[in-house]
Amino acid sequence: MRLVLLLLFLFIFNGCNNNTDVTKDRDNTQIENEKAKVIFQRCQRCHGMKGEKSALNVSDIISYYSKNDLTKALTLYQKSKRDRHRFGSLMTGIIKDLSNNDIKILADYISNLKERTK
Ligand code: HEC
Repeated sequence: MRLVLLLLFLFIFNGCNNNTDVTKDRDNTQIENEKAKVIFQRCQRCHGMKGEKSALNVSDIISYYSKNDLTKALTLYQKSKRDRHRFGSLMTGIIKDLSNNDIKILADYISNLKERTK
């Protein structure tokens, strides 16, 4: 019986937790987009004005990445855990001061860039 209660508790707790986490995957607000735009200025010289270029002719074209892939890639660079073309540490240096929230809003912003160009 205790086990059942425990499981029930965990189930409810988990459910609530997911429900309160509604902010997790929402789109940027206008203010967040403005902030992301400023952060994105430091990416443009390599990745292009709209993220349409291959940086140093090695990177993927990042405007085609999904928000999720961008968040993952940037988080890994921040932890020095991604290095596809030996420029991982370069990327780490560029974004190491960003907060998790900065990365999230930047990822949302970049993943919407292609829609603005076409
Ligand atoms: C000095 C040039 C330079 C700047 C500035 C720069 N990047 Fe990069 N970026 C690169 C290179 C080179 C790679 C490939 C890194 C590797 O070896 O994994 C890369 C990789 C990436 C990737 C993964 C793409 C892939 O091919 O795996 C993402 C996403 C990314 N950059 C986003 C950004 C963002 C966002 C910014 C701005 C905050 C930024 N970059 C600024 C050069 C740059």
